Amino acid sequence: MSYLQIVGKQKIEGKIKIHGAKNAVLPIMAATLLTPESCILHSVPSTLEDVLMMKRILEAVGAHIQHEQDDMSIDLSTISNCEAPYELVSKMRASFVILGPMLARVGQAKIPMPGGCAIGTRPVDLHLKGMQALGAEISLSNGYVNAKAAKLRGNHIYLDYPSVGATQNIMMAATLAEGSTVIENAAAEPEISDLATFLNSCGAHIHGAGTNMIRVEGVQQLHGCQHEVIPDRIEAGTFLIAAAITGGDVFVEGAVSNHMKPLLAKLWELGCTLQDQREGIRIQGPMKLLSTNVTTLPHPGFPTDMQAQMMALLTLASGNSMITETVFENRFQHSEELIRMGAKIRIDGRTAFVQGVTQLTGAQVQATNLRAGAALVLAGMAAEGETRVHEIYHIDRGYVKLEEKLCGIGARIIRVEA
Ligand code: UD1
Repeated sequence: MSYLQIVGKQKIEGKIKIHGAKNAVLPIMAATLLTPESCILHSVPSTLEDVLMMKRILEAVGAHIQHEQDDMSIDLSTISNCEAPYELVSKMRASFVILGPMLARVGQAKIPMPGGCAIGTRPVDLHLKGMQALGAEISLSNGYVNAKAAKLRGNHIYLDYPSVGATQNIMMAATLAEGSTVIENAAAEPEISDLATFLNSCGAHIHGAGTNMIRVEGVQQLHGCQHEVIPDRIEAGTFLIAAAITGGDVFVEGAVSNHMKPLLAKLWELGCTLQDQREGIRIQGPMKLLSTNVTTLPHPGFPTDMQAQMMALLTLASGNSMITETVFENRFQHSEELIRMGAKIRIDGRTAFVQGVTQLTGAQVQATNLRAGAALVLAGMAAEGETRVHEIYHIDRGYVKLEEKLCGIGARIIRVEA
């Protein structure tokens, strides 16, 4: 199994460019199921494992997909199969968003219950309730969700929780439903807005994406379009923290400050110097990191996908910090690995108490999920000596050439194929 070998305490400075957002492109790829015409997507992080997985899933149901560098064309003129393959969907939770578009286009779908990062139970009840509210018949058998609807009908749907995936699934299904749909308490993440932009370019009528109330007026059919995927705010945030944790000076090209306000506010509070420029964000890490408290929340709150990286940073702050995770119930596995590196962290339920230390020390650690893996790389960059991060296939699901990009700003990281 390959691992990343990191020599810490290098001078980090320069420019680093971010890719298109993984969490935006996955539902957009799924949304191409809604149209028989071909779609062309730009700024696709096409080497990511999760993107390759979605590509395989779409191909299994009839898609012809071509990609050259960051451009991808998807042709779903014929859907040959409305059953998604278990061995693929069970590995990636995000693939469950094919349910809504498949059901809307074909009138039926058979999708395995999803898998993905082990960060809690992550049910799909809100997705299913949403489909039922649009008139679908849902049954569960042998680990599969079977959905049927001769014609979906618009409805007023209140989500108990602003789930990102459920909002996307319902929004996509509603584009081809008869009449109008209102999604109340909808997720408002930038990736939801990007999906709506894509769908509207295909001829959908969606209003209010990016707010907690989304209205979709159903149309008869959608057509193809070209779309540029938004930059990855989590990748950008990870690079900002790379600078903050090493006291570096980095320009993160492509970072959109409007998508990242809660993180930027925290970095500023910790003592970082930030400059919002037209092409991206410049950050200078402080001589002395201050402490703070963080609570993860749905957007526009602090993103759970930055919690692990933020914890790595706070292990080196002067003073005590508190991190409360409200989105997922089991997302502190990285704390044990950080403790191996000398961090002082105590977990009590959904809260982590982090007592800042002056020094982390290199160690052998394991990535338990995607963002936990990124957090360990960041900790390794700041630690004294050598760190080895194992189980890096998690990192490859969501970061394009992470070590190569970080080496470009002065990090010393090599991938060892063991
Ligand atoms: C998406 C992101 C993921 C991010 C998460 C929260 C993608 C591909 N993934 O995941 O990186 O961490 O948003 O910002 O975009 N829940 C239910 N019932 C449901 C659906 C969700 O109880 O039907 C719960 C989940 O268990 C979890 C919480 O709601 O505790 C948030 O989940 P959700 O917003 O759906 O996240 P995902 O769409 O899976």
